[in-house]
Amino acid sequence: LNRDVPDPLLLRLAGIVGPDHLLTDPDMTSGYGSDWTGRFRGSPRFVVRPADTAEVAAVVAECGAAGIPVVPQGGNTSLVGGATPLHGEAVLSLGRLSEIGAVDPAGQEVLAGAGATLAALQDAARPHGLRFGVDLASRDSATVGGMAATNAGGIHVLRHGMMRAQVAGMEAVLADGSVISRLTGAGKDNTGYDLPNLLAGSEGTLGVITRLRLRLVPDPSDRAVALLGLRSVADALSLVGAARAALPGLEAAEAFFQDGLELVCAHAGVAPPWPEAHAVYVLVESAGTGDQLSPLAEFLAERPEVGLAAAVAAEARDRERLWAYRERHTEAVNAAGVPHKLDVAVPLAALEEFLARANETVSTVEPNARVVTFGHLAEGNLHVNILGLEPEDERADEAILRLVADLGGSISAEHGIGVAKRRFLHLTRSAADIAAMRALKAALDPRGILNPGVIFP
Ligand code: MLT
Ligand code: ZN
Repeated sequence: LNRDVPDPLLLRLAGIVGPDHLLTDPDMTSGYGSDWTGRFRGSPRFVVRPADTAEVAAVVAECGAAGIPVVPQGGNTSLVGGATPLHGEAVLSLGRLSEIGAVDPAGQEVLAGAGATLAALQDAARPHGLRFGVDLASRDSATVGGMAATNAGGIHVLRHGMMRAQVAGMEAVLADGSVISRLTGAGKDNTGYDLPNLLAGSEGTLGVITRLRLRLVPDPSDRAVALLGLRSVADALSLVGAARAALPGLEAAEAFFQDGLELVCAHAGVAPPWPEAHAVYVLVESAGTGDQLSPLAEFLAERPEVGLAAAVAAEARDRERLWAYRERHTEAVNAAGVPHKLDVAVPLAALEEFLARANETVSTVEPNARVVTFGHLAEGNLHVNILGLEPEDERADEAILRLVADLGGSISAEHGIGVAKRRFLHLTRSAADIAAMRALKAALDPRGILNPGVIFP
């Protein structure tokens, strides 16, 4: 930007959102320029922070008319460069659209602005004995708009499904600045194409989500968590399978491994749960009304997979202590370097084989790379974090994603494609599939204004 000559676009944008919410000073905008991993870095041309849907619509229309692409951004917790202005795009920050409406206890729904954080949503639901069905470690920063745009998953998918399943209505701004609004509280609606369903998971490429009608679920009064050190991945899978059948309140089944545990302990300054190492660690959580600890402990006592390395907890502080071993993986990995994060899923029948081959697959390409894997066991969703690679060196990424494709899996289970995996779309999507997705993009955003470079190479 030529800062000596008043830029007419900037003047108009400042007129829409107010001068305080148009940021052009690099000191103010740099925080919007890189994603949570630090692997993807850019410099926004400017950051614009509208307050409501009408302002978002006016901003998108102005930027579109000026040919300035915009990158919609919520809490900026993407792990795949999905909200990063890599080529000097403008950042459209939805953070000010944070209003949460009155909870509808009968319909078990709530209206929330795209910029409301997951934690704020949970706080709003709790007094009504309700909560939101998706939970994830970045809950204090991640916003519901970004979570819907990426169809976020998290730790409760086995019970409540992913973000798309929680969306009962949506308001969004399309690339030409027009607004689609489907926020009425009708419990059933089969009127034509399900555009909210399409925009969920579209990673900001088809529209900018501004408000959501979100489903809520009963907030269980009782919880119990178990952390187990097990002998093998086969044991972990058979234990989780049995837990799904035996424990109606089961809502999380997470896995991590010795190298990740050591990284977390070193980073967080905590002792490991047991002095000896185990092949795999499994964390399960059961939630419901009434004692959860006894049924969980009784179930574990019967299972042949469970040995002496077993800890159970019902009190909040003890549960959090056990969860921390799993939840602090992301920050521990980030503190150890700039990771390449692969977020894959394989059929459960192929999980053991994938894990047995993943490290070797990486070390064949880059012997010095370090692989830290953890994830959501029930969905076969593994986060393969590779440290020790140059940001642009995608050889190890490609090798892992090819292995996933060969095993019949998904190269993007919950984080989305972003820019990180767009080159590899063809591994698990056919030419016809990609052509149909491109046709949708071209129809809804013919000038490529919204989040260019995301999803498609
Ligand atoms: C998680 O499961 O913790 C998140 O997907 C974040 C991550 O993969 O690092
Ligand atoms: Zn995850």
